[in-house]
Amino acid sequence: MYIKFFLLSLILLFFSSSAYSQKDLSPSSLKQYNSIAINTELNWLKKGVVVAKIQLQKASTQYTPGHYPRSIWPDGEMRMANLGDWTAGFFPGSLWYAYEITQDKFFKEQAERFTSALNPLQFNKNTHDLGFLIFCSYGNGFRLTNNTKYKTVLLNASESLSSRFSETVGCIKSWDFERYSFPVIIDNMMNLELLLWASKKFDDEKYAQIAITHANTTLENHFRADNSSFHVIDYDPQTGNIMRKMTAQGYADDSAWSRGQAWGLYGFTMMYRETKNKVYLEQAKKIAAYIINSPNLPTDKIPYWDFNDPFIPHGYRDVSAATIMASALLELSTFEDSNRTYFNHAEKILKNLSDDLYLAKPYQNGFFILKHSVGNLPNYSEIDTPINYADYYYLEALIRYANITNIDLKKIASN
Ligand code: GLY
Repeated sequence: MYIKFFLLSLILLFFSSSAYSQKDLSPSSLKQYNSIAINTELNWLKKGVVVAKIQLQKASTQYTPGHYPRSIWPDGEMRMANLGDWTAGFFPGSLWYAYEITQDKFFKEQAERFTSALNPLQFNKNTHDLGFLIFCSYGNGFRLTNNTKYKTVLLNASESLSSRFSETVGCIKSWDFERYSFPVIIDNMMNLELLLWASKKFDDEKYAQIAITHANTTLENHFRADNSSFHVIDYDPQTGNIMRKMTAQGYADDSAWSRGQAWGLYGFTMMYRETKNKVYLEQAKKIAAYIINSPNLPTDKIPYWDFNDPFIPHGYRDVSAATIMASALLELSTFEDSNRTYFNHAEKILKNLSDDLYLAKPYQNGFFILKHSVGNLPNYSEIDTPINYADYYYLEALIRYANITNIDLKKIASN
């Protein structure tokens, strides 16, 4: 099985590095990239920010709103996300973060263009991913511009997402695929942020109650004794009883799929931020301990795609899991961080991601910022490829890092 993945990766590497040539480089961007001093303490941060700026500048003029870069197919072609794709909000979200970092109106205009094409999604009741889709795009847009039209979209999306909640199960239903009865995936924790935000903004307890009930049910059922989590729990919608604990994207039902651990860490940290309920903080700390202390975590802290992949140390890395972990750990470090464990771990991830091994060269890598993520290995899908949500959480983590350390990212991005 792995030989096939390996060959696919080689083909991908060939196409992704050759499809975009150096002649595309604009002289000023290239000059800025080349002038990054090698031994400056913040060189890694500057390199990440400058590459992000260059890549997103190019990508936003290359694509059309409604069709968003998602990843790269094994043959080197761009894999695009349309409005039916759970990842469609990440590219607009990255553009908002680029605007936040640079304060450059160009990125604001691009973010607005790519965000507004997601407008029909606010009424979509067929997906739990509305949080990703709408909060990363419209949520960031509202936070940065106060555009009241965005607020309405966020309210409608909260209503649509809430329609998937079952009192009997105590959760929002994740997927409508026929092979499950009432599946709830650990990823779903991420979509609660939209509901908690809406509750506060519109002074309506209903949304927060749904989010809190979902988080409590997840806390009770998704975690194992070692604080790793199952990916999917399939519930009986009539009784709320658990029918099966399993995986969809991990190595095995009882393995620790890395991105799932990252979603859990981020989700419970966010729940603590929004509710101040210490139970969520304790859960986030337990998940962090599982990740940080795992003997299967490589020294550069970029996890293998599954902590129990039998091919470790030769398995694929998942940069997307690393960026979500970094962003979550930085937030966690602002709540409690004896010995700066969380901050240092996140910093190490971010520093290592600025290495050429992981960070794209300008105008290469399909204009994505980072390389080497895994989407869905058991499904032979998106293995060792750039992925839009790795870029999104990377930028978020850089912003959180700069806020914690009082670094002026705009200054870093502009000279
Ligand atoms: N929510 C799907 C994933 O993390 O791949």
